[in-house]
Amino acid sequence: MGGVSVNERRAVAAMAIALTLSTAVTSSQAAEEKSAKPAAGVPKVSKAQIDRGRYLLTVGSCNDCHTAGFAPNDGNLPEKEWLLGGGPLGFSGAWGTTYAPNLRLTLSKMSEAEWVNYAKTLKTRPPMPWFNLNQWGDADLRAFYQYVRQLGPVGDPVPAAYLPPDKKAPPPYIQWPMPSAKGEAASPKADAGKK
Ligand code: HEC
Repeated sequence: MGGVSVNERRAVAAMAIALTLSTAVTSSQAAEEKSAKPAAGVPKVSKAQIDRGRYLLTVGSCNDCHTAGFAPNDGNLPEKEWLLGGGPLGFSGAWGTTYAPNLRLTLSKMSEAEWVNYAKTLKTRPPMPWFNLNQWGDADLRAFYQYVRQLGPVGDPVPAAYLPPDKKAPPPYIQWPMPSAKGEAASPKADAGKK
């Protein structure tokens, strides 16, 4: 009886399957490792510095608006979803409708020094508390930058862009009270935050 026995053939087939499986596992692991790796050019920083950045982000409440679903989930969202933007949720008021952008993406386009300068001079439309961010010290802004840059993949821009006051926002959006005819101080002015 010449050729390969049934048993041998089975063994070869099993080996082929095992090989295919192990290649599949290796390449999916490689893809995972690749996506978990920080963006290119991210400097290696200490754990203490990363922890400080995360702490500042938390006490600064940036996730409340810049992470979709953060407040409605009592802040219980995995870190891999943080700062990817507020999604389609609009903030509508006299200024029009604004959307909280993806800060991972924003920071990935800047150097640390550029971010420090940007954050200190930033002025946006409401409800971004830019006037608070302007007060952060250099060391805090640097820790925040380093923390955000090592978060992982930078993601995509938020799906909606700023709408001027004469454009009705599609849902979902949060409506701010409109200023009264007399323009009460409690309501934002139509030109608030105009650059
Ligand atoms: C109450 C909601 C809210 C909170 C809290 C908030 N932001 Fe924002 N942020 C926004 C919105 C909305 C915009 C877009 C404003 C515009 O379109 O003019 C914005 C814009 C920005 C921008 C400029 C846009 C860009 O991509 O360059 C930066 C930078 C920023 N926010 C950083 C922060 C940081 C850092 C924190 C925490 C310290 C924070 N924001 C907290 C809502 C918020």
